[in-house]
Amino acid sequence: MNIQSVLIVGSGLMGAGIAQVCAQAGIKVFITDVSQEILNRALKNIAWSLSKFIEKGKVKESLESIMGRIQAGTDWESASRADLAIEAVFEKLELKHEIFKRLDEVCGPETVLATNTSAIPITEIAAVSKRPEKVLGLHFFSPVPMMEVVEVIRGVRTSEETMRAGIDFVNRIGKVPIRVESDVPGFLLNRINLVGYIEAIRLLEQGIGTVEDIDKGVRLAFGRRMGPLETGDMVGLDVSYGALTAIYEESKDAHYYPPQLLRRKVKLGELGRKSGRGWYEYHPDGSRKEK
Ligand SMILES: NC(=O)c1ccc[n+]([C@@H]2O[C@H](COP(=O)([O-])OP(=O)(O)OC[C@H]3O[C@@H](n4cnc5c(N)ncnc54)[C@H](O)[C@@H]3O)[C@@H](O)[C@H]2O)c1
Repeated sequence: MNIQSVLIVGSGLMGAGIAQVCAQAGIKVFITDVSQEILNRALKNIAWSLSKFIEKGKVKESLESIMGRIQAGTDWESASRADLAIEAVFEKLELKHEIFKRLDEVCGPETVLATNTSAIPITEIAAVSKRPEKVLGLHFFSPVPMMEVVEVIRGVRTSEETMRAGIDFVNRIGKVPIRVESDVPGFLLNRINLVGYIEAIRLLEQGIGTVEDIDKGVRLAFGRRMGPLETGDMVGLDVSYGALTAIYEESKDAHYYPPQLLRRKVKLGELGRKSGRGWYEYHPDGSRKEK
């Protein structure tokens, strides 16, 4: 399937990043959210990120030309001709159901519907759709413009044709697809990653290591670019909390129950870089405060 235009629902961290990589790859994008103000902020973030890539010579096309492929508006009916729709709203099943019902109404019958959920089973999201064989997971990683991998996830009813369309799309935007043949909780890569994050939080809770030492140690010992807690701040503590809760609910495996310190911090609104405080503290421009 040759994907020429994409509808993105939700213009937060992930939706904006996905819009950017699609536009960079020459695909027309229509992005929507609940308010024009949120969309304007997303457009500003995309332009800022693109300008950094252009400055470094990693993107050759002009900012105006790439931004010209992105349309933003709260009235998403005009996106009815999208070949692919990608949902990237908050990690709440009821909200995702609402979006998928609406996508069924708005999109043409051939449109493939994808969700960027971190941990909700694709089958559960597809359950409200009239075209479950055309629903799949496209799980991007943050920050989307930098991360090369996208999980392409099969729900129980997802057809092979839809999986192939997802893989072609991921290749088309210059990323590497990883096939995930069953929508098990946490899919493939989060299952591995979240275990390390939980352990880091528990070590912190027990006073065994500091935030800085845990991250430094993991970076240096395992050759990672970022430690688990700095990654947690970038992803958002609420997002990881939502993912862990979803995995726990589905598997009833106590190991995935969100640690108390994570639960408390989410309640306090300490959500990571986006709220100015998580495991670390941040300046308003998103840079980290040195201790
Ligand atoms: N943050 C990550 O690192 C990450 C990684 C992979 C997947 N995900 C998943 O991607 C999804 C989005 O995460 P995010 O970090 O971008 O969240 P975010 O909070 O940054 O953005 C969510 C956006 O959805 C919008 N939204 C809410 N209700 C809406 C509606 N009815 N219609 C249109 N837009 C609506 C919000 O206004 C907000 O802009 C979640 O399912 C999350 O689990 C997140």
